[in-house]
Amino acid sequence: MAEPRLRHLLVTGGAGFIGSAFVRQRLAQDAEINITVLDKLTYAGSEENLAEVARDPRLRFIRGDICDPATVEPLTREVDAIVNFAAESHVDRSLLDAGAFVQTDVYGTYVLLEAARHSRHQRFLQVSTDEVYGHVKDGRRREEDPLDPRSPYSSTKAGAEMLVRAYHISHGLPTLITRGSNTYGPYQFPEKIIPLFITNALQQVPLPIYGDGSAVRDYLYVDDHVNAIARVLWKGQPGTAYNVGGGTEVSGVKVADSVLQACGRPGSLKHFVKDRPGHDYRYALDIRRIRSMGWEPRVNFQDGMRLTVDWYRQNDAWWRKRKSADFWNYYQQNYRGLPANAIPD
Ligand code: NAD
Ligand code: TYD
Repeated sequence: MAEPRLRHLLVTGGAGFIGSAFVRQRLAQDAEINITVLDKLTYAGSEENLAEVARDPRLRFIRGDICDPATVEPLTREVDAIVNFAAESHVDRSLLDAGAFVQTDVYGTYVLLEAARHSRHQRFLQVSTDEVYGHVKDGRRREEDPLDPRSPYSSTKAGAEMLVRAYHISHGLPTLITRGSNTYGPYQFPEKIIPLFITNALQQVPLPIYGDGSAVRDYLYVDDHVNAIARVLWKGQPGTAYNVGGGTEVSGVKVADSVLQACGRPGSLKHFVKDRPGHDYRYALDIRRIRSMGWEPRVNFQDGMRLTVDWYRQNDAWWRKRKSADFWNYYQQNYRGLPANAIPD
């Protein structure tokens, strides 16, 4: 199948962690590309994440909500593909209040699909997650395996996927889905385990490990993830989902140990707290499909951690701003069993 000629992308959620990495990478690697970023700038998004490319004339930033058809429709008419990163993305927050997840992750995806249907786009890529498969007891999940989401977050991502699939089948929309594993690297909001543990270690406050710390994740460096998304966007087969995994299995305790070692902090900062309700203990992907398209993860966990720790060390102001009073309020609501010195002065 001939590759589509994509000259102008609408990147929703492009001011977040992975979306901004995708925008930076595409602008650096493709001289022909123009990008419109549509982002609501929730607590997780910021124009600062695009500061490196803010002056690039090929980039346009629009603050707006994917749930608002009046914002979305005119923009979709100007582009030839949509890459949807916009989402509420943190499991723990979905356990405290799932409303925004249902709204953005499901309804917002529907608004984008409707707009894409009327614009006869060449591609609609939905950025999904390995969490839609749920807890994986044995083996590795393949793309045709049933979805079995178990958290409000993963359920809304699975719901969005079902809509994407339906628009392909019912309306012939050329859709693609990527199911990425746990991603880490620069510019990640310090609520997910790796940036939370790095910044806590730098602040010399305890690292809260859920349960006994044995749950494993397949960590994927952000540059590898966005490379895979680009590969699928241009070379993927419409109507198909692609697993994107780093091929690692790292436990919570191991993440804490690697962070403490890289930051030169003592093991005594490890602190075991009450387990996450409904905790998925293992995610594991079979990545043969995307491998056959010539994609491989290039950054191993050790190198990725080194790059990430260096970035957080060098960008103290970026993460300190995000660990504000609102953040610590969320923190106290979320974690059960924190020690007295859990929050910095
Ligand atoms: P993030 O939370 O850092 O960024 C999400 C972005 O979406 C933010 O910029 C936010 O402002 C924006 N947004 C939220 N609601 C919006 C709305 N209604 N309208 C417009 N913009 C809105 O998330 P991330 O980690 O960069 O994840 C991006 C995507 O990748 C998500 O769809 C997520 O489900 C998926 N994903 C994430 C991971 C991971 O480990 N972080 C792994 C696999 C897949
Ligand atoms: P997280 O980064 O929230 O991603 P996921 O969406 O996969 O849940 O959590 C990754 C793993 O780390 C998961 O097993 C839960 C665990 N975890 C902790 O032990 N402590 C924490 O403070 C956080 C945020 C996560």
